[in-house]
Amino acid sequence: MPFIRIKNTLYLQNKLPVVNRLLLFSYKMYKRFFLLPLLFLSVIIGCKKDSPASTSGVPNVAVNFSVDVDNPLYTPLQHVGGWVYVTGGYDGIILFCNGQDTYLAFDRGCPYDCETNSKAIVQVQTNNITAKCPVCGTSYSLYSGTTTGGPGSVALKQYQTSFDGTNLTVSN
Ligand code: FES
Repeated sequence: MPFIRIKNTLYLQNKLPVVNRLLLFSYKMYKRFFLLPLLFLSVIIGCKKDSPASTSGVPNVAVNFSVDVDNPLYTPLQHVGGWVYVTGGYDGIILFCNGQDTYLAFDRGCPYDCETNSKAIVQVQTNNITAKCPVCGTSYSLYSGTTTGGPGSVALKQYQTSFDGTNLTVSN
């Protein structure tokens, strides 16, 4: 039988005065329906903060342009796995064709410190499926922007894309 200590007196839990039993009941309900959900919520929020895609250090700049994929400058974009560099974003942008008529756009800036390290601009590798930072050696998948090797854990900054059959529009 559990005992409760109130003002240096031990009471059997079911022999407590009614007021104290009500207080105890309120405290238990408070713990169950307020404190525990609050603790659970704070754990979830804490985890989200550390998620790779949400902590890019690339500064926000306005991006809104279109390219005509039938233009000879952009012929690599006419097949899956093709890519081109274009100006725009913070440190230039990689346009990548990741499927039939679907495209991804990544900022080339280092997701950590591109504001202070002007050499940290990722370059597409000869395998045509990853881009690598020349400063720290972190590599990134062109199919997702997430890291595939090296010390980095934050994904490349990604911009929105839409395609109407001729023009690929990149924006944020
Ligand atoms: S120094 Fe930032 S990704 Fe390499």
